[in-house]
Amino acid sequence: MTKLGDNRRTPPLNASLALLKKAEGAIPSQTQTFSKGWTQFPRGVSPVFAERADGGTIWDADGNAFIDWPMALGPLLLGHNHPAVTEAVTKRLKDGIAFSLPTTVELALAERLIDWFPYAERVRFGKNGSDATAGAVRAARAFTGRDRILCCGYHGWQDWFIGTTLRHAGVPQAVRDLTTPFAYNDLDALSNLLEQHSGQVAAIIMEPMGIIPPKPGYLEGVRALADKHGVVLIFDECWTGFRIHLQGAYGAFGVQPDLACFGKALGNGVPISVVLGRADIMDVFNDVFFSFTFGGDLLGITAAQTVLSLLETEPVLEHVSTIGQALMDGMSRQIAAHGLSGNIGLDGYAARHVMWFKGDGADGMLMKSVFQQEGIAGGVLAAGWHAPSFAHTMQDVERTLEAYDVAFATIADGLASGDLDGKLRGERVQPVFRKP
Ligand SMILES: Cc1ncc(COP(=O)(O)O)c(C=O)c1O
Repeated sequence: MTKLGDNRRTPPLNASLALLKKAEGAIPSQTQTFSKGWTQFPRGVSPVFAERADGGTIWDADGNAFIDWPMALGPLLLGHNHPAVTEAVTKRLKDGIAFSLPTTVELALAERLIDWFPYAERVRFGKNGSDATAGAVRAARAFTGRDRILCCGYHGWQDWFIGTTLRHAGVPQAVRDLTTPFAYNDLDALSNLLEQHSGQVAAIIMEPMGIIPPKPGYLEGVRALADKHGVVLIFDECWTGFRIHLQGAYGAFGVQPDLACFGKALGNGVPISVVLGRADIMDVFNDVFFSFTFGGDLLGITAAQTVLSLLETEPVLEHVSTIGQALMDGMSRQIAAHGLSGNIGLDGYAARHVMWFKGDGADGMLMKSVFQQEGIAGGVLAAGWHAPSFAHTMQDVERTLEAYDVAFATIADGLASGDLDGKLRGERVQPVFRKP
């Protein structure tokens, strides 16, 4: 007798799996970005290498099409290959993209961003979010003459931050000692840290909202603590920027940082990041070294100009919110209907939400792996989280929910029979920040 899930088809993956074998001899970790690598999808039943993408769809190396919800980890707010961005970037290529002088185009974008964010008086550009956060932290240290950093959230691959995580191999202890993470939504914890390191803290850098919304008064309280202790407040808006509100956390919550960092959505997949903020702090960049060959690269700047124009003229955030809310509501209904409310849930907001998996005895990672396997078998690049875009349609939502319904049913069946393990045809996924 076939059991639920047995009749699901693992897509053909020969090309992906052969490429993975080859990559083991060429690319350490077989990916440039841990969160995109094979450890994040159940190996053996998931695509590993992508070939192309358009709108809300991605095609893998075997030619399988999937509805893409992780969307390259967030930058594709408008969707893959948005015609206006592609056209602008293509035109720019023909006019040159790298020069030996600053360009009129970068000045125009800087001025536009100064108009866009009321607290922004100066702007510098980078390529990755990590450029912006590292630049902001260095500026804060130079401005205050202090070394210590308090952080909350994820801020990129550079030593000053990654040294606080389990992936700290290669970061000197002396650097690790200078950054202390603090808990979100806990003003007392932050206040205690500031007292403990009184006169030593250069910056509080934080994601103004990760997945959980700020408690009423929390961000205002952080602002007040930063002022009391003479600390630079940096909002890392690499995720929230242009996604929770066109003016990011300032627009959503009304709290002004001293500096803010943006990346991801600003270029819709074309690399560009920004650090902007108060003139007196930003002007330390007259001396502070924040300088690289591709700073001011015109592909990113051109893409950003186009993205901002589209955000001004098209109902991007409304659409993303409608799509994301429909997904969240549909999934919540399905989770309850399959009796999984104690095991699986959703945190976050319509434009970005993340599933959690926990079990009475059932390993959360096993549950997540089965979920992903079944989502993928149903034509969805199921990563356990969603970053909806302007290109996704309600039909994508319906097709996704059809696939997820089978995934939840398979998990419920596995839990009921006590053999969830037997449902997994591939390998379990692993956390990015696993213990060394
Ligand atoms: C909030 C936040 N800050 C900074 C970064 C680092 O950006 P990048 O990976 O582009 O260096 C990320 C990346 O995911 C992020 O989510």
